[in-house]
Amino acid sequence: MLGPVLRLVVKAGKERKLRNFYPNLYRDEIAAPPEGVGVAEAVDVEGRFLAVGYYDPRSRVPFRAFRFDPGPLNRAFFQGRFARALRRRQGLGESYRLVHGEADGLPGLVVDRFGEVLVLQVRSRGMEALREVWLPALLEVVAPKGVYERSDVEARRQEGLPERVGVVYGEVPEVLEVEEDGLRFPIPLALAQKTGYYLDQRENRRLFEAMVRPGERVLDVYSYVGGFALRAARKGAYALAVDKDLEALGVLDQAALRLGLRVDIRHGEALPTLRGLEGPFHHVLLDPPTLVKRPEELPAMKRHLVDLVREALRLLAEEGFLWLSSCSYHLRLEDLLEVARRAAADLGRRLRVHRVTYQPEDHPWSLHIPESLYLKTLVLQDDPL
Ligand SMILES: C[S@@+](CC[C@H](N)C(=O)[O-])C[C@H]1O[C@@H](n2cnc3c(N)ncnc32)[C@H](O)[C@@H]1O
Repeated sequence: MLGPVLRLVVKAGKERKLRNFYPNLYRDEIAAPPEGVGVAEAVDVEGRFLAVGYYDPRSRVPFRAFRFDPGPLNRAFFQGRFARALRRRQGLGESYRLVHGEADGLPGLVVDRFGEVLVLQVRSRGMEALREVWLPALLEVVAPKGVYERSDVEARRQEGLPERVGVVYGEVPEVLEVEEDGLRFPIPLALAQKTGYYLDQRENRRLFEAMVRPGERVLDVYSYVGGFALRAARKGAYALAVDKDLEALGVLDQAALRLGLRVDIRHGEALPTLRGLEGPFHHVLLDPPTLVKRPEELPAMKRHLVDLVREALRLLAEEGFLWLSSCSYHLRLEDLLEVARRAAADLGRRLRVHRVTYQPEDHPWSLHIPESLYLKTLVLQDDPL
C-alpha cells in the first residue's frame, strides 16, 4: 500500500451508491475530502465503513472504489483479483479480455490477452499510481512472455495523464499474431487501434459465420482487420470490406493472402462509400466506432446512423440480414431500434428483429454498474410483404 490510508466522508444519501457496489464518487458527493492523494477509506456520515479505493481530486472521478470489504490494496489483493479474472475466463481459448475495468473490480485497468502476450491500458490516476503494486501481481498470476502498453486513449488524456506506449515487460514481437478460430491476424501493436484487436465482437463473428452461406454477398462496413469479412470468405461467400484505416486493411489483406481467401477492400469513409455501391448483399454489417462519448452528441449521431442504415437497407437483399452494433454506452439498444425504424420507414421496408446480442462474458457486465454494458448488436432481417 502506498502511504497511510486516507479517510473520506461521503455525503448523506450518496453512501447508497457504494453500498450498492457502484464504484465512482464525484466531487459533489463527498462531504469531507481527505487532505492529500492516495488510497482512501470511504465512510458514511456516521463513520461507518463503505469501501476502499483511490482518492485523487485531479481525476474526473475523484474516488473510485476498488473493494467493498475492509482491507489493503496490496499485492495479495491484486493477485486475488487477477486470479479470479483468469479463472472466470477458462475455456475461452488463447485470446480474450482478461481484465475489463471496474466490472472485474479493477477500475481503470484493461488487459487483453493474446496467447503469451498481454496488452494493457491504464485509464485512471489511481491505477497509474498503484502500478508498482498491481503490475508484479499481474506478472505473477498470468506469467506472460511479454506485456505491451497502449495507454494512449482519450480517457487517459481526460485524467491528465501522459501517454504511455511500449513494452513494459519481457519480449513482445513488433507484429503480434492474433489468433481467432483459425484466423491469424498479423497486428503491428504500435500502429493498431486500441489494444490491437476487437475481442468483443468474437461471439457475433461466430454467429455470423454460422449464418452466412456459400455464394452469398457480404458487406463488412467498419471492418477493421476484417474479422467478419474473412469468415464470410472462408464460408465461400463474396466479401467486401470497408474501413478508413489503411493499416488495418493492410492486415486484412495479409491475413487473407495467407489463407488463400479473397476479400475485396474499399478504403474510405463509410457513408460516401456505401452511397457509391450497388447491391444486393445478403449480410450488411455496420460496426461503427464509439460515436457518442457524451449524451449531448446523441441526436446528431442518431441522424448520421439513420443515413447509414438507410444506405445499408438500400443494398440489402430480400430476406437479407443487417447487423447494427453500438459500442457507446450512451447509444442504447432502444436507440438502435429507433434508428432502424426511422431508416426502414424512409424506404418503406419491413424488418424483423432476428437477434439481439450483448458483449461476451470476458467483457463482464456488472448489474450495479450500468456503464459496464456497452456493446449491443441488433440483427435485423428483411421481412418482405
Ligand atoms: C469497432 S471497430 C470495428 C471492428 C470490426 N468490426 C471487427 O470485428 O474487428 C470500428 C472501425 O471503424 C473504422 N472507422 C471509423 N470511422 C470510420 C469512418 N467514418 N468510415 C469508415 N471507417 C471508419 C475504424 O478504423 C475501425 O476499424
